Amino acid sequence: MKGIILAGGNATRLRPVTAVTSKQLLPVYDKPMIYYPLSVLMLSGIREILVITTGEDQPQFRRLLGDGSDLGLRLTYAVQTRPRGLADAFLLGADHIGDHSVALILGDNVFHGSSFIQNLRAATERVGGCRLFGYPVSDPHRYGIAEVDAEGRLLSLAEKPTATRSNLAVTGLYLYDNDVVSIAQQVRPSPRGELEITDINQVYLDQGRAALTELGRGTAWLDTGTFSSLMEAGQYIEILERRQGARIACIEEVALRMGYIDAAACLRLGKTMENSDYGRYVIEVATGSRIPELVP
Ligand code: TTP
Repeated sequence: MKGIILAGGNATRLRPVTAVTSKQLLPVYDKPMIYYPLSVLMLSGIREILVITTGEDQPQFRRLLGDGSDLGLRLTYAVQTRPRGLADAFLLGADHIGDHSVALILGDNVFHGSSFIQNLRAATERVGGCRLFGYPVSDPHRYGIAEVDAEGRLLSLAEKPTATRSNLAVTGLYLYDNDVVSIAQQVRPSPRGELEITDINQVYLDQGRAALTELGRGTAWLDTGTFSSLMEAGQYIEILERRQGARIACIEEVALRMGYIDAAACLRLGKTMENSDYGRYVIEVATGSRIPELVP
């Protein structure tokens, strides 16, 4: 399975902070935001990842992550010249996807929880059609919303509904079989001028090939799109990291534990940052003095 991180957009709700930098490079406590979705893909076993950004921001992403070889990954980059919508990822990513299945994750989505990774790993092993991940929210009119029946089967999808019986938001993580590329090519811009991922999901739903995994209480799905939600996400990460002594979405640690790099390579990465707590943590992980549980 191939991976795509969609990290473009205008981030207008975070102006002026995002006037000269990408939202997905802003810190969520102790690391750049993109580390969180990147670690999710890494933990699900995906190593070939396309990072889609704006043209202006791409050099910074390349400086931060390079070609991924330091982490045992293959990272490639594509430019989205303007935010044409989430479904654009499959047009820009068609060559990268080739004849594989694909996981798309939005560059500003923070997930955390060990049951989440177990759910995701089980789902990536066999993707027949499309699999969405639902999370209960208190303000459904702001999200793409899924309705499921008592057995959890997906019944309908609606983009930012004004009235809905469901409070299950469709999160920014989507798994598809290879048909997604040809389906995306058929999608036309919506009234708001975007290529909507909901339209792709609707095609799978109509074909009876869409499924949804409900992320339970043991999982956190955090928003980072506004100043207060970004601050709250940072506080959540800080509290957990301090309390547990383990770092969330430490990509060097994930690479080591997944067997993508060896301890010597991890140590080298840690030493480039030894003045920060984060860097010292990477060194401790590499030298074996920390053995925390593996969660994103
Ligand atoms: P949004 O939060 O919908 O948009 P935004 O990030 O531009 O922010 P704002 O609403 O403040 O203007 O985007 C969700 C994620 O998807 C975010 O990581 C950016 C990304 N995205 C793209 O990369 N390309 C797109 O065409 C769209 C619509 C979003």
